[in-house]
Amino acid sequence: MIIEDFMPQVGDGSIRQKLESCLRGDPKNLPCVFFYDHRGSELYEEITKLEEYYPPKIEIPLLRSTARKLKEELKDCDLVELGSGDCSKISVILDEVPKEIRQTIVYYPVDVSKNAIEKSACNLQQKYPEMDIHGITANFLEHIEKIPGRRKRFFCFFGSTIGNLPESKAIEFMADLGRVMNHNDRLLLGMDMLKDIRVIEKAYNDSQGVTAEFNKNILRVTNSHLGTDFDPEDFEHVAFFNRESSRIEMHLKAKRDLEIVSPVLNEKIILKKGEMIHTENSHKYTENDIRKMAQAAGLSVENIFTDDKKWFSLVEMVKR
Ligand code: TRP
Repeated sequence: MIIEDFMPQVGDGSIRQKLESCLRGDPKNLPCVFFYDHRGSELYEEITKLEEYYPPKIEIPLLRSTARKLKEELKDCDLVELGSGDCSKISVILDEVPKEIRQTIVYYPVDVSKNAIEKSACNLQQKYPEMDIHGITANFLEHIEKIPGRRKRFFCFFGSTIGNLPESKAIEFMADLGRVMNHNDRLLLGMDMLKDIRVIEKAYNDSQGVTAEFNKNILRVTNSHLGTDFDPEDFEHVAFFNRESSRIEMHLKAKRDLEIVSPVLNEKIILKKGEMIHTENSHKYTENDIRKMAQAAGLSVENIFTDDKKWFSLVEMVKR
């Protein structure tokens, strides 16, 4: 088992600049990769177990049934999972794949969280000793070229993480992936579908407040990088569906007027009571959106695997 680290470290000047410019923007925002420090990854895992948070409850059985259909495709391939987290999703797939095929696979988990990669790659290696694992910590949006490509590759990007990117970035990312893909490579993309808005809004406003904690954790991560003194308790978690953009938006709303300082900032960051910091989007798609996105990115849709209610899809794409 190998693990390679391409993530910038705390104290990296470019991260400070990025965070500062986001916090001085109008409206203010924070990049969603900063949710995932050790605590953030833990909170996210908790979210996935919540009653109201439906996506994994549908995606996981769908992964199982899809794996049964696609297992032959995995033979002799480099299995690259973007945003692999705790590797629980790939396990669902690998469990459906015969050992003789698993022996021929090299699995590449790619994630921004070093902690998640280390822990999960070890667990996975114990579970499947016959399979090679090569972990990569990187922000795959910026370092797509770091992903090895010697053999036929099967890219996986689950959890509708694609939906957390702004629409133009999502297409750009898919187009980048399309460019690095070879003609017999495949992509299996998890996409959360548009459905009753009450169901969607409940999923991001859980009754136990775990999503709220997760959202506020981004301020702790920001403090660690930027030396700021954000107090998460000064903010309220706000999540609502924006119909026009077909996405859930997550914000942090200031409960009072705030002046944020840091030894590395020349000027304070001023927030008015009620002002919001935009932290996350989660797009919900129609089948038409999926086809349009693939088209725009130079990919073509081979199959859309979905559940009875059409709440979630696994979309198989190839290079056009
Ligand atoms: N991509 C998933 C989603 O949009 C997971 C996720 C990303 C998430 N950021 C989140 C879940 C913030 C809850 C809150 O649902």
